[in-house]
Amino acid sequence: MRDTDDKQIPACSPSLLSPRLVEQIRELAARCDGPFYVYDQAAIEQNCRDFLAIPYADKSIHFASMANSTRRFLEIVRGAGLQIFVNSPGHLALAREIGFAGQQIVYTSSAMDDGLLRLAHDAGAIVNLDSMGQLAAWRRLFGDEPVGIRCNIGELVEPRPTLAGYFLGKQSRLGLTVDEIESLAGQHGIAGLHVYVGTDILDLGYFRDCYQQLARLTKLFPALRFVDFGGGFGLPHNSDAPFPIEQYRDLVTELMTRLSNELGRSIRLLLEPGRIIGGAAGFFVCRVTDVKLRGDWQLIGLDASSTQFPRPLFYPADARHPVTLLDAADRSVTLRSSLYGCSTYSRDFLARDLQLPATRIGDLVVLGQAGSYCATAFTHFLGFEPATEFFV
Ligand SMILES: Cc1ncc(COP(=O)(O)O)c(C=O)c1O
Repeated sequence: MRDTDDKQIPACSPSLLSPRLVEQIRELAARCDGPFYVYDQAAIEQNCRDFLAIPYADKSIHFASMANSTRRFLEIVRGAGLQIFVNSPGHLALAREIGFAGQQIVYTSSAMDDGLLRLAHDAGAIVNLDSMGQLAAWRRLFGDEPVGIRCNIGELVEPRPTLAGYFLGKQSRLGLTVDEIESLAGQHGIAGLHVYVGTDILDLGYFRDCYQQLARLTKLFPALRFVDFGGGFGLPHNSDAPFPIEQYRDLVTELMTRLSNELGRSIRLLLEPGRIIGGAAGFFVCRVTDVKLRGDWQLIGLDASSTQFPRPLFYPADARHPVTLLDAADRSVTLRSSLYGCSTYSRDFLARDLQLPATRIGDLVVLGQAGSYCATAFTHFLGFEPATEFFV
């Protein structure tokens, strides 16, 4: 697990952006007023292929639309062969408009009322329910129709805090407890078991422990058709190695093959990757509009607000995005710097306390790892428009 105490974001060297991308960013900046996102389409498609290359054949990979629900982004992942996971009526409607068919959509949510349960059911989506109460409501509405359940297997593993806290165990509000799951043993209407272990995780060991425990619970359900291992695949920060996708492919293939053999029928593997599909393929670009020097602290004012790049608002302590000053003249000397937004809101920062070279008004600033949970998290608070999004 990553050390979340390390809040320093090192200045990203320009070499992390390919010369081609830098050229494209400059071209877009020349014709675009205001901040914008730019996504590398080929990188998104490669990330999709990384999951489709899992050798286990009986599988479907459902992109988690909460990570990026821009229409073009969803069209790209669909074109690359992924299916979709949604958790709201808005994203369900969008998925259907884009052309995802019923069974290509996984709907996992919590506290769904009858109307929402009907909506997901009538769309033909694969539904995972969050509680005994939700299961009772499903049975009341749809009898024994097969459905999945979200499993809080925190008692079977040692729950770990991930970015945004605990997703398993007593500290998580989500899913059925192990006792509740066991009380359903033998029910033919349980079609699948779902687990979401946490987010932004690079340690394969935690995935393995959780998946193994979920696999053990499958034996309770004679008509089980699928396991859904959710998402959670992390992005590398600072000196982290990238997510070990090859080892991951081996891990799930071995586990699923063994499970299907043990149960004597093919069990479908569902995955719901979000962050990893577009995170490193997206960049947020803005311009310097003011520079204040407070002793050795460089305060860099931008033509953008954190409402347009909101991860630092949601995760002030943990949102870490590599920053590149494209036009910095001298990179040998750096100053403690913060990037602030063009509003009066005291918490309007896009990055804090990182080392950057001296900058000037008009310079282009690029924030990396901006393809997931960024554009989608836009908020109307403060009155700025959403940043334009480009795909190159
Ligand atoms: C149930 C579920 N699946 C998948 C995802 C996507 O997770 P990630 O972006 O960590 O891969 C989320 C994100 O919150 C989720 O709640």
